Amino acid sequence: MKNMKKIIVKLNNRSYPIFIGKNILSNKSLLSGINERNFAIVTNRKIKSLHLTKIKNSLVKKNKIILSDGEKYKNQESTNKIYNYLLKNKYSRDSCLVAFGGGVIGDITGYAAATYQRGINFIQIPTTLLSMVDSSVGGKTGINHPLGKNMIGAFHQPIAVIIDTEILKSLPKRQFNAGMAEVIKYGIIKDKVFFDWISKNKEKINKQDSESIIKIVKKSCEIKANIVSLDEKEKNIRALLNLGHTFGHAIENYLGYGKWLHGEAIACGFLIAASVAIQNNTMNIADYNKIKSLLKDFNLPTKLPKNINIEKLFKIMLLDKKVKNNEMVYVLPKNIGQAYITNKITKNIVIKALKDHVK
Ligand SMILES: NC(=O)c1ccc[n+]([C@@H]2O[C@H](COP(=O)([O-])OP(=O)(O)OC[C@H]3O[C@@H](n4cnc5c(N)ncnc54)[C@H](O)[C@@H]3O)[C@@H](O)[C@H]2O)c1
Ligand SMILES: [Zn+2]
Repeated sequence: MKNMKKIIVKLNNRSYPIFIGKNILSNKSLLSGINERNFAIVTNRKIKSLHLTKIKNSLVKKNKIILSDGEKYKNQESTNKIYNYLLKNKYSRDSCLVAFGGGVIGDITGYAAATYQRGINFIQIPTTLLSMVDSSVGGKTGINHPLGKNMIGAFHQPIAVIIDTEILKSLPKRQFNAGMAEVIKYGIIKDKVFFDWISKNKEKINKQDSESIIKIVKKSCEIKANIVSLDEKEKNIRALLNLGHTFGHAIENYLGYGKWLHGEAIACGFLIAASVAIQNNTMNIADYNKIKSLLKDFNLPTKLPKNINIEKLFKIMLLDKKVKNNEMVYVLPKNIGQAYITNKITKNIVIKALKDHVK
């Protein structure tokens, strides 16, 4: 198809394509391999009313599972809804689920697919910028538990990811900007040229110029696909994707989920990580300032809310999944384009970096 780009996530016999383009959902052949007996689409009410008709497959009208919208529904109950539908309608092991939504729908659907009859196929059709550049690629699936976010899950790769960038037109700007945080992250950890390109084209991106959006989505997917191909189960370099996330998760948790969006929290986290790296003599202030200025261009926070209790925030960080053998593991930028993982950072350095970022 004209105007459709294709990237392969290379994982031997589980390799899969990511298709990217404008209005590609209208291409009937994209979902032509699926038949009535074995396919169901999972979405929520909002996305259904905004976009479901864009998928030109008559089966979509029939075989759909509609979940409630929001992070608080990323739970076992929603997963059960999917299982119930599949069991009642006698879906067999050769079935395929299609996740049509943001990261929440993608994570739940992927997890249901990973566990239904010990694993069935699934396709991701992400509808938020965050899910296009991050959560739909790489095979991490899961749901929240009352005692912890994303604590129940499985690695389960989709068989394809279909990204139609036109769908972003209806996404609220704040959500778009939050997705940009992950895009900027790829530049910081892996690709200075990409980072500079984003800086140069920030106005076009902010206006959602089609070509620019396709470029940033494609580049982000390429970087993520490459890292996932090298380290699917996060034994080493995949952890680089967690830049800013130890800080970001703690901020989200401290403020209460939803107060700051994930992308907003990690954006502030990049700067705290950069500031730790400066104290660790592995980063320079000029790069720190470039990151800060780019985050501001997308209206992303660069400071923690005033009155935040730093000791409490630090304690929450210690509860993060990334703590290994009681040692905090940090992902830090070395400069724009390179990052590293270390467990040699003292508490004092981190506390100073946090304090320096309070409003
Ligand atoms: N699996 C992974 O590797 C991974 C990576 C990052 C994040 N995540 C998960 O992703 C989730 C966050 O995903 P998200 O940011 O996409 O949030 P989301 O799925 O909650 O979507 C945000 C909001 O936008 C709405 N929406 C979606 N597409 C829209 C569109 N095109 N137009 C208008 N509204 C639209 C949604 O209904 C929702 O209200 C979190 O649960 C997080 O844990 C997973
Ligand atoms: Zn993230």
